[in-house]
Amino acid sequence: MPLSADPILPSPSPEAAAHSAGLAEHIASVIAAEGDWIPFSRFMELALYAPGLGYYTAGSRKFGGEGDFVTGPEISDMYAKCVARQAVQVIQAVGGDVLELGPGSGALAADLYAEMKAVGQAPKRYLMLEVSPDLRERQRARIAQRHPKDLDRFVWLDRLPEKIRGLVIGNEVLDVVPFSLVHRTRGEIYERGVIVSEAGFAWDDERIPEGELKRRAAAVIPPGDYDYLTEIGLAAEALVRTIAASLEAGAALFIDYGFPEREFYHPQRFMGTLRCHYRHRFHGDPFFMPGLQDITAHVDFTAMARAAESADAEVYGFTTQAYFLISCGLAVMVSAGDPGMTLSRLKGTSAVHRLINPSEMGELFKVLGVGRGFDVPLLGFQSARHLPL
Ligand SMILES: C[S@@+](CC[C@H](N)C(=O)[O-])C[C@H]1O[C@@H](n2cnc3c(N)ncnc32)[C@H](O)[C@@H]1O
Repeated sequence: MPLSADPILPSPSPEAAAHSAGLAEHIASVIAAEGDWIPFSRFMELALYAPGLGYYTAGSRKFGGEGDFVTGPEISDMYAKCVARQAVQVIQAVGGDVLELGPGSGALAADLYAEMKAVGQAPKRYLMLEVSPDLRERQRARIAQRHPKDLDRFVWLDRLPEKIRGLVIGNEVLDVVPFSLVHRTRGEIYERGVIVSEAGFAWDDERIPEGELKRRAAAVIPPGDYDYLTEIGLAAEALVRTIAASLEAGAALFIDYGFPEREFYHPQRFMGTLRCHYRHRFHGDPFFMPGLQDITAHVDFTAMARAAESADAEVYGFTTQAYFLISCGLAVMVSAGDPGMTLSRLKGTSAVHRLINPSEMGELFKVLGVGRGFDVPLLGFQSARHLPL
């Protein structure tokens, strides 16, 4: 079927284009089999996670300079060093393991374990929950190379454990969990879905049946009669709720780009936050080369906090990535490596600068900490400015 082409985005190799065409055919066959219309969340699930074909489940490079995007742990090992301090605090207090959600290339796992070991606090087990078989293999190879003697401490899980004790961390995971698109137009709220047209995939709005999505859409879309398109992440909320319910004692940290509800569903954000990442460019067309690009949306952290609370967990903090890293000791660590380093010079060093500068990841990225059975302030929020949720 025809694929949407954008002359500004770099062309894929013939092999990559053929792979994408194969996935597009698969998605088109699913649309036909499921009534000629699928919700956008289903399209996203197939584009990212269709077995052997999706962006995360097939072998495209994804991370780093030659991939499509760079994440905090990939930018600098300072990120892992800060998280290590947080992990040590939690595990010293409640015992247990580190559980990482969606470890991607394995950069955080390798660096976080190394740092915890360097301070004599290696976790007994470093658990990883990864939905992508391709990424699991890459993680395993990286850990085998960095920690060959400790490989047996790393455990890949197929599903969340029923009970979790220790620190759970998910960096840039909630933004890639399939979300729904809802659209107010002509005074009615619809669910936006995908059909196959002669020109390829196309948008199509359907009435929303009674249920949670309809209720939520009516609650969050700002009043008015103008067109408003936005995302609702019910599956990401379910993931947070399940983790919060499973935490016997400890904390879960969710780090991602996003906002609290009142900023997310602001009248001015009337076209939503859907964003695709392809070779370090971002754009808003999820139909472009399925399987070769990431599809994301910002995270509504208020909804995530409520999801945790609905499982009787506490919200321990919500702040920016910059405040969190600095509260974990980023400035102190960098200046310990270079005694002449002041905070203003630190901001100038490029990798750390990217992590904490407000115009890069420092402010758009937020950290939400939830948990139970941990009764002192989490290190990463101790000297951070708490943001309202
Ligand atoms: C954008 S990448 C981030 C990778 C890594 N955390 C980092 O910061 O570099 C998203 C990761 O989440 C994984 N993922 C997506 N949905 C998941 C889920 N429901 N449970 C666990 N991992 C998931 C993907 O396969 C991928 O490893």
